[in-house]
Amino acid sequence: MSKVPRAVAYIDLKALEYNCSSIRGRLSPGAGLLGVVKADAYGHGAVEISRKLESIGIDYLGVATVDEGIDLRSGRIAKPVLIMSGLFSWDEVEPVARYDLTPVVYDRVALAKLTGATQGFARPLKVHLKFDTGMGRLGFHPREAGDIAGMLVRARGIHVEGLMSHFPVSEVRDDYGLEQVAAFRGVIDTFRSAGFDPAYIHMSNSGAIVNYPEAHFSLVRAGISLYGSHPSLSLEASLPLRQVMKLSARIAFCREFPAGMSLSYGRTFTTGRPSRIAYIPVGYSDGYPRSLSNKGTVLINGTRCGIVGRVCMDWTLADVTDAGPVNSGDEAILLGEGGREGLRVSANEMAEHAGTIPYEILCKISRRIERVYV
Ligand SMILES: Cc1ncc(COP(=O)(O)O)c(C=O)c1O
Repeated sequence: MSKVPRAVAYIDLKALEYNCSSIRGRLSPGAGLLGVVKADAYGHGAVEISRKLESIGIDYLGVATVDEGIDLRSGRIAKPVLIMSGLFSWDEVEPVARYDLTPVVYDRVALAKLTGATQGFARPLKVHLKFDTGMGRLGFHPREAGDIAGMLVRARGIHVEGLMSHFPVSEVRDDYGLEQVAAFRGVIDTFRSAGFDPAYIHMSNSGAIVNYPEAHFSLVRAGISLYGSHPSLSLEASLPLRQVMKLSARIAFCREFPAGMSLSYGRTFTTGRPSRIAYIPVGYSDGYPRSLSNKGTVLINGTRCGIVGRVCMDWTLADVTDAGPVNSGDEAILLGEGGREGLRVSANEMAEHAGTIPYEILCKISRRIERVYV
């Protein structure tokens, strides 16, 4: 008997390619594209996504940790890889060099230690220096640029390949963001005056690709948009994208209930009419958010059906009373395009209902769900 999976996350590599070219279509001349594939490519599978990105000419890849970078190298990914959260321990310096990974450096103590540790290296270690122009997270203060450049002029073991910064808000264009761009330009000028010529200068994530074209510099870092979601629904019209992940499950069984029957934990839903309920074998342990209880929708038989009652650890209930003939074995689409033109459940829509962001929706689809690449 061939195995029919209870649920599958289909990863549409053509949609990924479409999103890449849509993003590239927005870039200022001379800007390259870094694909952010941290957190297992936002739940899509880092090696498979990177392989596809590599085949369509991505310029750089970005992960959070050294281990994530090593995973890419073990998967035979050859493109440059930026370690965006930098190094967490000195044991990581040797593997970073061995696997040809490029760490981001954002504090003086680490920079001083790294300068010492790399002195004897056969090849200088490439680094990107991060400046905090207003994010309030990682980075040197722009005022420190002169000092840092001075420290590095004589550091033989370190090659400043990149300068970077990050926006806390890029879904809208505002004065705060423009001041950040100005501050970052000051940093770039300081480094150039000190004789540095970094190949990669980057600041923009998905939102800034649309809202801050002057901040595309020589590279942009696209994450969520690669996977087909917008950092905010207000950007939908400006950047056409296709949802890369489709989360699909087989309905396990259907049951008929009279009016007045309460369903699932907590008895938070009571049928208001004679109802047919489909039982979908996916729950919050698969990463389907419990906060979609009585709020989310799924696509069944080309119809949008409401989630009823609490989402359980392994089960979700949908009201299919108005969906025509629905039976066990039929497909329920929890995320993605479904059946009819224009009918889809996007990660943005799920996030709105669940009170979160599409990033969290995608990253949390658990590894219990098999990824199938199409
Ligand atoms: C430093 C950095 N750059 C770029 C990105 C990608 O952002 P987005 O997914 O909004 O494109 C992230 C994501 O968290 C990030 O941390």
